[in-house]
Amino acid sequence: MRIACVCGARPNFVKLAAVVEAMRPHRELRPFVVHTGQHYDERLSAAMFEDLALPRPDFHLEVGSGSHAMQTAEVMQRFEPVVLEERPDLVLVVGDVNSTVACSLVAAKLGIAVAHVEAGLRSFDRSMPEELNRVVTDALSDLLFVSEPSGMANLRREGVGEEHIFFVGNVMIDTLLRHVVRARSSDVLERLGLRPGEHAVVTLHRPGNVDAPGRLVAVVDLLESLAARLAVVFPMHPRARAQLAAAGLLARLEHRLHLLEPQGYLDFLRLLSTARIVLTDSGGVQEEATVLRIPCLTLRENTERPATVVAGWNRIVGTDPDRVLAEVDTLLAGPVHGGAAPEKWDGRAGERIARVLLQLGPEGVRRLRKRPEVVAAAAGAR
Ligand code: UD1
Repeated sequence: MRIACVCGARPNFVKLAAVVEAMRPHRELRPFVVHTGQHYDERLSAAMFEDLALPRPDFHLEVGSGSHAMQTAEVMQRFEPVVLEERPDLVLVVGDVNSTVACSLVAAKLGIAVAHVEAGLRSFDRSMPEELNRVVTDALSDLLFVSEPSGMANLRREGVGEEHIFFVGNVMIDTLLRHVVRARSSDVLERLGLRPGEHAVVTLHRPGNVDAPGRLVAVVDLLESLAARLAVVFPMHPRARAQLAAAGLLARLEHRLHLLEPQGYLDFLRLLSTARIVLTDSGGVQEEATVLRIPCLTLRENTERPATVVAGWNRIVGTDPDRVLAEVDTLLAGPVHGGAAPEKWDGRAGERIARVLLQLGPEGVRRLRKRPEVVAAAAGAR
């Protein structure tokens, strides 16, 4: 079975690494990697490939940045010829970024089966671009690989047939468990003069938090107050750095926090796994903190990953500085009594995906398609 494995942005690389690795031992599964180039900075892309030991992409579409419509359309235009040329049996997409929805739409229109890894997650907040990407990708997908119980419930409520849904667990956690020991040899704490258990990690990049100038000022106030309580390490996504710089707010933070460039996977894992607390608006960091048993405050009004809250390690606290600081003080005052990791977050999700694909085979995958083969017709129309 030829499988086009699509990735575009940083969290995709972490997820795809586990899937490709799990396929490797099976000769019947022949994955090839398509990097759309949505993330292109050395630190967001090439350095991640290296840390994760992901094979070099077989195709690099180099789409770069743009408005949502431009970026999505550009990915579609550049991905379609790859599919027509390579004729994969399956296009496998991960997560919820623009590259995910773009490539699933191309494949579905060509009648190629689509598999979505991390299907069924819903924040029920359609102001998030990722939520739109999730809803559309799931509607187009033929195989839905689900990471947590809420995903199963959401897909069933939306009327997806049981034969399309596979509860396999969380591939991001496969990668985490595979690398956590190796990350101990990172010297990032020493370089920053930190000791384990004494710092907070902050990551922020969502448009809702960093694109609105009013919100940005509140975020900076919050970070200043946080830094008065404990050392704060803030690896900055390029968009967060650009917005803070444009608003003239970087100088207020520079001397009080450890403001870092985006970190490699292993250095970030070291910072996160030794943190006292983490404050984030990322989806993946909520999951990683849960498995590492690091108390996490999510600076959003909702989460599409409720299993992290159920496990007791994550709280959804919004962005009001007073509320967030009250939660920080509670966490710093006493131990957190969180529970075990969610079901099937055990390092074997990739293996379960590989097993499903082996059992189905190319014919079984084709039978699950919601639309018939139209590649030939599309090729004729070019
Ligand atoms: C994207 C995903 C988001 C994911 C995040 C992980 C979408 C809608 N969003 O957000 O779900 O959590 O990746 O990081 O797909 N930029 C650079 N260098 C790069 C890439 C981007 O400087 O390599 C800057 C550019 O100014 C760009 C901006 O960041 O315009 C936004 O990049 P984009 O890929 O559109 O979205 P992210 O915010 O990274």
